[in-house]
Amino acid sequence: MTRVNRREFVIAGAAAGLASATPSQAFGRAPAVLTRQSPKAVVISSANGNRFRNGGTETCVELAFRRITAGDDVLDSLVAGVNIVELDPEDASVGYGGRPNADGIVQLDACCMHGPMRRAGGVAALEGVRTPSSVAQAVMDQTDHHLLVGPGAQAFARNMGFEIEDDLNTDRSRRLWLEWKRRTDPRHYLDPNRELARRDVETKRLATLDSEHGEDELHGTINCNGINPAGQICGVTTTSGLAWKIPGRVGDSPILGAGLYLDNAVGAVGSTGRGEANLYNLTSFLIVENLRQGMSPKDAGLAGLRRIQENTIERRLLNSRGLPNFGVNFYVLDAGGEYAGVSMYSSQNSRYAVCTENGAALVPLEPLLDGSPGD
Ligand code: GLY
Repeated sequence: MTRVNRREFVIAGAAAGLASATPSQAFGRAPAVLTRQSPKAVVISSANGNRFRNGGTETCVELAFRRITAGDDVLDSLVAGVNIVELDPEDASVGYGGRPNADGIVQLDACCMHGPMRRAGGVAALEGVRTPSSVAQAVMDQTDHHLLVGPGAQAFARNMGFEIEDDLNTDRSRRLWLEWKRRTDPRHYLDPNRELARRDVETKRLATLDSEHGEDELHGTINCNGINPAGQICGVTTTSGLAWKIPGRVGDSPILGAGLYLDNAVGAVGSTGRGEANLYNLTSFLIVENLRQGMSPKDAGLAGLRRIQENTIERRLLNSRGLPNFGVNFYVLDAGGEYAGVSMYSSQNSRYAVCTENGAALVPLEPLLDGSPGD
């Protein structure tokens, strides 16, 4: 549980005022009196933040927005929101029931940042805890460190009172892993109903599985960022990472500057999609710096995607048009409460979630490129 004292509240409010000024006000000669417009509360997230309810009545963005507007700490509200998705077995890309690694083990990554308190925490390759975002918040609140990994992260979680489970697979995630295993290691993992005709059908069906899942699902993640009327900005990103990954692989999600970055005076940015592309460019950090230069959330995000495109030169990562053959998305919220979601392709995961005083909705992502990664 994170609380902000009065001094931090005032500093955050002043910083938000500076950021909501025009670039000439912010970087040129400041007027004697800065008239600050309070931002309205906003929560944005990847689309899964307005899809899953885990049997309850609210989605992630709805719950987070309700709590923020009731005056709760912004990060506490966002983490409570993403907990819904982490706990929901229907989202096979995050938390409990997330797609496992190549050994069939669910390994989770998460990080969070608290803008007004200038704090951050993360966990990577964590096994056995359904809500890695809450463990990341405990790292932030209860240690001097920013990132704990693997067995050390699990031992920390146990010591903090989190329940450790032997296996975070659901029947569905185990079935998906077994289908992948049969496809990639058919000599050892046989279809139990292996008459020839059926096997042909099964082989064809399995061959299309990855495209059916969609690349976004294979890299599935939730990022959620929010701001309150005092201009306090926080963010959280949580994932089971790349499906069927080499055990120990860590993507962008728990890495500050990649899966998430924010500056309370400027804005918050988080990501879903191909983590390696984002890690190479530390794109969330780059987009926050673009905001700092006065770009709009949309322009700042598209410039980040352009950097990824420019740095993607290996043939194995290019499609027939010489463009990246993967999807990656960024969710951008500035200190004035303006926001945008951007994606590499128009076809990729084409919506993101927004909750304002008008309620929650899925709205279109702004694409950098036409078509799809496979074109
Ligand atoms: N963006 C999630 C991952 O690549 O692990």
